Amino acid sequence: MNERDSEAVAAQLVAEGHSITESESVADVILLNTCSVRDNAEQKAIGKMENLAAEVRKLRPELVLGFMGCMAQSRGAELLKQMPQVDLVIGTQKFHRTPEYLREIISGSRKRIVDVAEEEGSQSTIKDHLSVSAEPAVTAFVSIMQGCNQYCTFCIVPYTRGQERSRSIEEVVAECRELAERGVKEITLLGQIVTSYGKREIPVRDGRSAFVQLLDAVHEIPGLERIRFTSPHPKGYGDDLVEAYGRLPKLCECAHIPVQSGSNRILKLMHRGYTRERFVAIIEKLRAVCPQIGITTDIIVGFPGETEADFEETLSLVREMQFDNAYAFKYSQRRDTPAAAMPGQLSEEVKEARLNRLLIEVNRVVAEKYEAFVGRQTQILVEGPSKKNPARLSGRTRCNKIVVFEGTDRHLGQLMDLKITRTGSFTLYGDPAIVNMD
Ligand code: 5AD
Repeated sequence: MNERDSEAVAAQLVAEGHSITESESVADVILLNTCSVRDNAEQKAIGKMENLAAEVRKLRPELVLGFMGCMAQSRGAELLKQMPQVDLVIGTQKFHRTPEYLREIISGSRKRIVDVAEEEGSQSTIKDHLSVSAEPAVTAFVSIMQGCNQYCTFCIVPYTRGQERSRSIEEVVAECRELAERGVKEITLLGQIVTSYGKREIPVRDGRSAFVQLLDAVHEIPGLERIRFTSPHPKGYGDDLVEAYGRLPKLCECAHIPVQSGSNRILKLMHRGYTRERFVAIIEKLRAVCPQIGITTDIIVGFPGETEADFEETLSLVREMQFDNAYAFKYSQRRDTPAAAMPGQLSEEVKEARLNRLLIEVNRVVAEKYEAFVGRQTQILVEGPSKKNPARLSGRTRCNKIVVFEGTDRHLGQLMDLKITRTGSFTLYGDPAIVNMD
């Protein structure tokens, strides 16, 4: 989501006549888009800003430095006070004001600007896309909503992103259609909790929630080959959404469904709104409709009061569910969230030890899942050069696994069938030459 927000701001700045530099050392403006979800993300952003001020500003005194996004939102003016080097602080509902504020700062008409106010309709301003290379983009992200009303007790997002606000189906479809016309083949619909999309504004129709209605509408767009979304909330996985996987061929067989814990006691303290049993039932339904589905999740270890027995329930859930991947995090106390004040805060050592134990379980299953692909034929969408070895091409399977293969530019943007020959860590290797040989 942050990458998408950054892209939208960059696109607006390019439209104003700015250009994107390859290197910080030649930039006139550097904006850091920040995440607040865990403390280490905030510390990284602050460290980076201090470094830019000390190193780059020394060489280029006119350099404008700014923070955008969640940390900007939650700390606001305090950031300017603490960091005299910073010129601009832009909150999560004000991304689109960036060009105007930069104009004012660069012209000297204003000096230091903070804007972290709420703005009605701001969810519709994350809409501009960047075309950085000569090749048209193959995949794109589209923001469908902003904010979150779930108030999980560990989470800062409702305070940094505000209340849920959705764009209209027409607006989202128009953006997707334009992207498809520009050659985009795969779209990922984005929101803090996409399954809450349009809940208050768009009534359920024929048993289909607003989010499923949106999927149906995006599915109609000619030229678009694949649809993904992230992140849903388990609570929002109604039968209409489960059924959509069986019904909509463009909807990729993958789902990132954050579970956070395997213990009902902890899920309740977290205010997640579902039980372990309900979560398991959703996964079982999804796998019944779509046996190939790749399911990933998020897990927090060391939530306040988590006992060894609670943690073991998380381990047993991971064994039982056989996730394709799980992103595991140590609980991080966030300011003004209810969990930060709960009794039973655990030591860093306990959290670290649990994280390591969890990762061993997760990685064992992940390795098995990857191994199972060897020898199989699978469809990929070719996205571009592989990050690790730009001489090779890389694409993703419908269940969202990266596949690297030897190819040429003519494969870019193509849907291809290839045979998986071996696996690496979180990567599959494929060979287009041996498709259909067996
Ligand atoms: N501590 C650790 N992890 C967190 N997440 C959200 N808040 C916290 C926190 N306070 C994790 C959750 C969420 C993911 C985006 O970040 O697992 O799904």
